[in-house]
Amino acid sequence: MFKPWTLLGIAVTLFGSGVSPLDNGLAKTPPMGWLAWERFRCNTDCKNDPDNCISENLFRTMADILVNEGYAKVGYEYINVDDCWLEKERSVYGELVPDRTRFPRGMKALADYIHLRGLKFGIYEDYGNYTCAGYPGVLGYLQRDADTFASWDVDYVKLDGCYAHPSEMDRGYPEFGFHLNRTGRPMLYSCSWPVYQIYAGMQPNFSLITQHCNLWRNFDDIQDSWASVESIIDYYGNNQDLIVPNAGPGHWNDPDMLIIGNFGLSYEQCKTQMAIWAILAAPLLMSVDLRTIKPEYKAILQNRKIIAVDQDPLGIQGRRIYKHKGIEIWSRPITPLFQNYFSYAIAFVNRRTDGTPSDVAVTLKELGLTSPTGYRVEDLYEDVDYGVLSPQTKIKVKVNPSGVVILRADVQPDFPRRVPYYTTQRTVFNPVQQVFRIRNNNGFSTK
Ligand SMILES: *[C@@H]1O[C@H](CO)[C@@H](O)[C@H](O)[C@H]1NC(C)=O
Ligand SMILES: *[C@@H]1O[C@H](CO)[C@@H](O)[C@H](O)[C@H]1NC(C)=O
Ligand SMILES: *[C@@H]1O[C@H](CO)[C@@H](O)[C@H](O)[C@H]1NC(C)=O
Repeated sequence: MFKPWTLLGIAVTLFGSGVSPLDNGLAKTPPMGWLAWERFRCNTDCKNDPDNCISENLFRTMADILVNEGYAKVGYEYINVDDCWLEKERSVYGELVPDRTRFPRGMKALADYIHLRGLKFGIYEDYGNYTCAGYPGVLGYLQRDADTFASWDVDYVKLDGCYAHPSEMDRGYPEFGFHLNRTGRPMLYSCSWPVYQIYAGMQPNFSLITQHCNLWRNFDDIQDSWASVESIIDYYGNNQDLIVPNAGPGHWNDPDMLIIGNFGLSYEQCKTQMAIWAILAAPLLMSVDLRTIKPEYKAILQNRKIIAVDQDPLGIQGRRIYKHKGIEIWSRPITPLFQNYFSYAIAFVNRRTDGTPSDVAVTLKELGLTSPTGYRVEDLYEDVDYGVLSPQTKIKVKVNPSGVVILRADVQPDFPRRVPYYTTQRTVFNPVQQVFRIRNNNGFSTK
């Protein structure tokens, strides 16, 4: 018998304390798309490796596949360039210049190609003197580079933090955001600001960060391994009281790219990454070779039910509500609402390595699902519909080692149907008001 924890309720509040988060009309739900970095890195060797080097051909190809193979249809929208797209020197006029051999038609032409397919174009820069790979950074050229991006019809800017002083970021990131805004072109602004400050031993000012960025990185770059994915999951779970309240429509925590379909994760582990990223309201940025991805991994990335959890309009980031002996339960409040009851996505994760699936049995009430009207429960990977269950019903799931079972529980309306009184737009968990109070009881077992 595991030590049982139960959450009793959650609180909703307006985004507090008088500051308002960035509102450039973008990222009302977490952005979805494709990003080169984790899979293609800084491969600039187009002579010997023309199909995999960082070049306009790679991004054009991925844009075509996004549209032709169903990714765009389920919501993947951005094609994002990462580091290593630049010439090592600015032009004599001080402008950024894309690599002349690898991007011979330039970034505006690439943006046009992507826009013609109904997609959006993201680019990468760095707040410091150099990008992480040693190309020119924006420091000293903030306004000019923002103007350049706007003139290229960029839709998304990721601003990294190498070769910069973390103590200057509280000024510098807002300053670059100011210049992005001044161009008049809405550009989603992804900041690496907090992670560099955390590395430097500083406490990031998340109130300031949410005011200026659409998303931000909290933790390490993802690598192609389960250990890396686990470390990210642990970071978000262990620091959730600090992290979760900062997420909401227009402003998101970014646990980094999806590595589903690459070399390092098993099928089960890929399912776990997708499920937990959806619980975390994370940007869904695939970094995988879409030309060669196997169908079962493509199916994970295109799972509409899990994408719908990620993209839930309330934008409330989920939490880890149970962790014991390698079994974790993660929960995210989602729509629809009935009266003051949320619906939920619930992910059961098995971090054990003992080779056989673990059974987890829990009542809905123990998961915090207490509406007397009940919940319609379904499995989001398997075709299992549990029907409408009362809070007292015990559900049992079998979770594979390093795997996940993710359920969706839609709160049922009473009859006759009443209009939900819940109308607040910006919602966050409010940790101060005792979110997810936890208490002991005996109803929770795993074996
Ligand atoms: C960036 O370069 C300038 C000019 O060389 C220098 O003064 C500054 O210290 C550099 N900043 C960082 C963070 O290295
Ligand atoms: C610029 O900022 C203002 C004020 O927050 C906002 O209303 C506007 O949409 C922003 N424009 C762009 C292009 O980001
Ligand atoms: C954090 O930023 C806000 C502005 O959003 C400011 O009012 C507050 O003083 C800052 N907090 C700290 C500890 O610097």
